[in-house]
Amino acid sequence: MTKTTAIIPVARPWLDERDAEAARRAILSGWVTQGPEVAAFEREFADAVSAPHACAVSSCTTALHLALLALGVGPGDEVITVSHSFIATANAVRCCGAIPVFVDVTPDTFNIDPSLVEPAISDRTRAVLVVHQLGMPCELAPILALAQRRGLPVIEDAACAIGSEIFWDGRWERVGRPRADIACFSFHPRKLLSTGDGGMLTTRSPKLDATFRLLRQHGMTVPDTVRHASSQVVFEQYSVQAFNYRMTDIQAAIGREQLSPRRIVHGADSRAAVNLQRQRCTEDGQVMRVVRGAIQRIEHPSVA
Ligand SMILES: Cc1ncc(COP(=O)(O)O)c(C=O)c1O
Repeated sequence: MTKTTAIIPVARPWLDERDAEAARRAILSGWVTQGPEVAAFEREFADAVSAPHACAVSSCTTALHLALLALGVGPGDEVITVSHSFIATANAVRCCGAIPVFVDVTPDTFNIDPSLVEPAISDRTRAVLVVHQLGMPCELAPILALAQRRGLPVIEDAACAIGSEIFWDGRWERVGRPRADIACFSFHPRKLLSTGDGGMLTTRSPKLDATFRLLRQHGMTVPDTVRHASSQVVFEQYSVQAFNYRMTDIQAAIGREQLSPRRIVHGADSRAAVNLQRQRCTEDGQVMRVVRGAIQRIEHPSVA
């Protein structure tokens, strides 16, 4: 008798004709990278998570890299982060020449254990990088209180946390509304909102936002959109060594479509989706413990 094993994927991209139409709109617009669609996606994303600033980039890995650089993390610095994450979290720290200092998780959340952060702080600690593992928000409040006391900035790796909500001051709010200094999101196909690939940084700081914008496009002081809109010849400068971490307008158009309210499953359906995910994990032989109800709520756009 042959035994068949059912493979249950963690996630499948949910893209359809509406996304294809959005991509078509961008392709035929005559502006295909970091143009009007990207600007609109940034505004709409910022609104969706109640962030003053949102800056689109090519992935969450590049978002994390820019976040760390913008906070001044450099060679020899230490960044406290969590031992249980995708490798991109630690790689972003290494890309700055800094050292990831790993802190263990709590068994009931699989997220960073806030009580282990303070013992990990040293004279070389420059930042704390927490992760909302699989979109389940970590216990941010005690970490922010500690970081404030010790004068350390905090970055949220919110790669999987688009749509996740966290309980603050008696009400639910979206991850990405800046409680920490910066939050970084991923739009890879395994995420709830996918642009194929892509990332976003949110912050309340106009200075940090301006730094992200400078670093994501070669350190160019005047963006293409501004130069093209001008009736005069505008010469840009390249004030710092930087990167090409741009998002294309084709990706952004898909992102805008995915972000629209008609694509989000609300209320009872979202709870059903979360339960289904847990059930899937269980069927797959990996029982994922239920995260404390008080800090987790996720809106899923379909788990078909
Ligand atoms: C926690 C975490 N951080 C970072 C990333 C990297 O995201 P991206 O593929 O958009 O660079 C992932 C990807 O799954 C992730 O799970």
